[in-house]
Amino acid sequence: MIRVYAPASIGNIGVGFDTLGIAITPINGDLLGDCVSVEKSDNFIIKNIGLFYDQLPIELEKNIVFQCWKRFCEYLCKKYPPVMITLEKNVPVSSGLGSSACSIVATLIAINHYYGCPLDNEQLFKLMGEIEGKISGSIHLDNIAPCFLGGMRISLVVYDNINQLIPSFDNWIWVIAYPGIKVSTEMSRSVLPDKYSRKDCITHSQYLSGFIHASHTNQESLAIKCMKDIIAEPYRDKLLPVNLSVIKKSLREKGAVSCGISGSGPTIFALCNVAHVVNDVFDCLSDLYIKNNLGFVKVCVLSK
Ligand code: HSE
Repeated sequence: MIRVYAPASIGNIGVGFDTLGIAITPINGDLLGDCVSVEKSDNFIIKNIGLFYDQLPIELEKNIVFQCWKRFCEYLCKKYPPVMITLEKNVPVSSGLGSSACSIVATLIAINHYYGCPLDNEQLFKLMGEIEGKISGSIHLDNIAPCFLGGMRISLVVYDNINQLIPSFDNWIWVIAYPGIKVSTEMSRSVLPDKYSRKDCITHSQYLSGFIHASHTNQESLAIKCMKDIIAEPYRDKLLPVNLSVIKKSLREKGAVSCGISGSGPTIFALCNVAHVVNDVFDCLSDLYIKNNLGFVKVCVLSK
């Protein structure tokens, strides 16, 4: 049997819409990622288990694992012997934590290994991007790349899948809060403008290039100053069940150095750069979410 784990990720990171993403792992030993196992079977079977299995579609054709299996066989023009694939769904669906990327990455790596690695990493990466694009309505690798390759990643040329590792700051701790409701990527992309002003394009380029430069030159305060999203967040905050500007203010008062929408939302992230503020930031988000009877809050670090 082959079993593969793929971690959750934050796409966009405040800056870098559709280009920057970071793989994360909870520090308390929880699994925040999907596991896929492949084993021999007389018939083709897909089994869904895990914390969020009940959020998965019942129809086989809509199941991401099935879509990956189908595309893998088509791509290689082969009829492979049947298998049982078990998806342990530990990342909530449509949460902004790269849920579909987790399932795609874990499934493709697992089936590729099971059948003797017919695809190399580059082919796998392209296939992962293609399937993510089909599911979300457009190809963007800000979840797939860190989920597959680890660390903080920037996608430079989407269609060639050119991707680079960006050094991150070892002291950064990400507190993520998932509000327990679904916001599909397709929907949260539909609220974005088709066109942006020249001023916004220039400002966005300045923030993104500033962030990348600061990360490479170990200038933490510059990196934090550049974590400003003018492309997605101003249009998406209305999709959240909480008032983002009020939360941001409270989180900053507790010591978070940056906060924003994780991926396409509705999860929110708060970045801490010193360990002693993490409990206060955690409590602030927990109070808010527990009060509203919502999802979960987790303290995470970079997943390499
Ligand atoms: N960059 C993507 C978005 C992430 O914000 O729509 C979601 O997959």
